[in-house]
Amino acid sequence: MQGPRRKVKVMLMMTMVFIFIIVEVSRNAGKGGDKNKLLIPSKRFWAKDSPSNAYWNRQQQQLNYINNHNLKNLNITTEELPYWLNNTVSMDSCEPDFRVTTQVKDYNSLPQRFKDFLLYMRCRSYPIVVDQPHTCKDQPFLLLAIKSLVPHFDRRQAIRESWGKAGRVANKTVVTVFLLGNAATEDHFPDLSKMLYHESSMHGDILQWDYRDTFFNLTIKDVLFLEWLITRCPGASYIFKGDDDVFVNTIRIVEFLSNLSDAKAKELFVGDVITNAGPHRDKKVKYFIPESVFVGTYPAYAGGGGYLFSGQLAKRLHEVSRKVPLYPIDDVYTGMCLMKLGLAPEKHKGFRTFDIEEKYRDNACAYNSLMLVHPRSPQYMIQIWSWLNDPALNCQ
Ligand SMILES: *[C@@H]1O[C@H](CO)[C@@H](O)[C@H](O)[C@H]1NC(C)=O
Ligand SMILES: *[C@@H]1O[C@H](CO)[C@@H](O)[C@H](O)[C@H]1NC(C)=O
Ligand SMILES: *[C@@H]1O[C@H](CO)[C@@H](O)[C@H](O)[C@H]1NC(C)=O
Ligand SMILES: *[C@@H]1O[C@H](CO)[C@@H](O)[C@H](O)[C@H]1NC(C)=O
Ligand SMILES: *[C@@H]1O[C@H](CO)[C@@H](O)[C@H](O)[C@H]1NC(C)=O
Repeated sequence: MQGPRRKVKVMLMMTMVFIFIIVEVSRNAGKGGDKNKLLIPSKRFWAKDSPSNAYWNRQQQQLNYINNHNLKNLNITTEELPYWLNNTVSMDSCEPDFRVTTQVKDYNSLPQRFKDFLLYMRCRSYPIVVDQPHTCKDQPFLLLAIKSLVPHFDRRQAIRESWGKAGRVANKTVVTVFLLGNAATEDHFPDLSKMLYHESSMHGDILQWDYRDTFFNLTIKDVLFLEWLITRCPGASYIFKGDDDVFVNTIRIVEFLSNLSDAKAKELFVGDVITNAGPHRDKKVKYFIPESVFVGTYPAYAGGGGYLFSGQLAKRLHEVSRKVPLYPIDDVYTGMCLMKLGLAPEKHKGFRTFDIEEKYRDNACAYNSLMLVHPRSPQYMIQIWSWLNDPALNCQ
């Protein structure tokens, strides 16, 4: 390209960028100005709300519509509903919803786990088979709720012997429960139920519901846990929810929580926060979500390895979760619920769901100031816990 022509091109481009910035700035200024105005719809705005092509998004539109109090007061009849909303069946139905086979456009070519998820997406209640109705009688300061699977006996035992040791930590009451689903007969798992009952009678810390415990059903685990929490453990001040392959510095967490101001404590939700993420479109990834199921970006969410929130916020999450359709990735779902509440999780650098540098992994003092490290084996959990509780430990 010749010199002068290139110069002209560059100048033209710069001018365009400049104009673009001016337009954007003035548009945003306009937006800011509108914020304080009361918005009164002049037309039936819902008529313009055309259905999304993605199934989850469409379910959310439907729930938004049903939960919109403004609309309730407008006294509309079913004939006036947009056509794609007039066939709502009960939101909580636990019968398989075979309409998804036609409503999700590539249903037949989706991996089996999506079919399983979509068919039962409306179901939010499963029977509890192992309960601990009195475990919270002492109103725990901190409830540790750990997602586990029936065969993980060793992980649970290591947690009991280390960071999940229930009782008093830094002079506060800590209670531990393990959250379990069930094995479906069609998955051909060996029957471990007798061993689980034995474990439960020994330790009194197992919660189990009768649903198939799979990755895509972790959201069910979340919803069922919140339900349990508000009925069985409403007095818990704080809740840690996480996986059974993490090390948690319970002492540090109790200290951190004891230090919070009341205002901060009320809406507390901290963890390893992931922002600007969206669905993976690569079929080979564990987190793959097809465009026929979800479009859009994810709200900020705390990685499911472990996060901490207040009992007060738990109640609000429980309520709002009814207004958000279940999503197959549990930590993203919790982020969606927080967003619906107008809140966002807060990042805390003590939550290391992507582990710490290898050279520090055997250094006791590296764990002293952290809240969570992922992943850790059962043996490692016990080892780190003994380091931290060694009276000779000096990390100054
Ligand atoms: C709603 O509309 C119907 C028929 O138009 C009317 O009979 C009824 O009283 C209205 N209800 C309310 C709450 O306004
Ligand atoms: C929804 O309403 C439209 C228009 O009234 C109608 O043609 C359609 O059959 C209805 N669908 C269902 C499932 O009721
Ligand atoms: C432990 O907690 C109790 C009640 O919360 C308090 O009365 C007591 O002073 C605390 N003890 C210590 C050593 O902080
Ligand atoms: C979730 O659990 C239900 C009830 O057991 C089951 O029917 C469904 O297939 C499970 N979904 C997935 C994705 O595993
Ligand atoms: C709690 O507060 C004390 C005193 O302000 C401070 O020394 C300590 O580091 C704090 N602990 C945590 C975990 O933030």
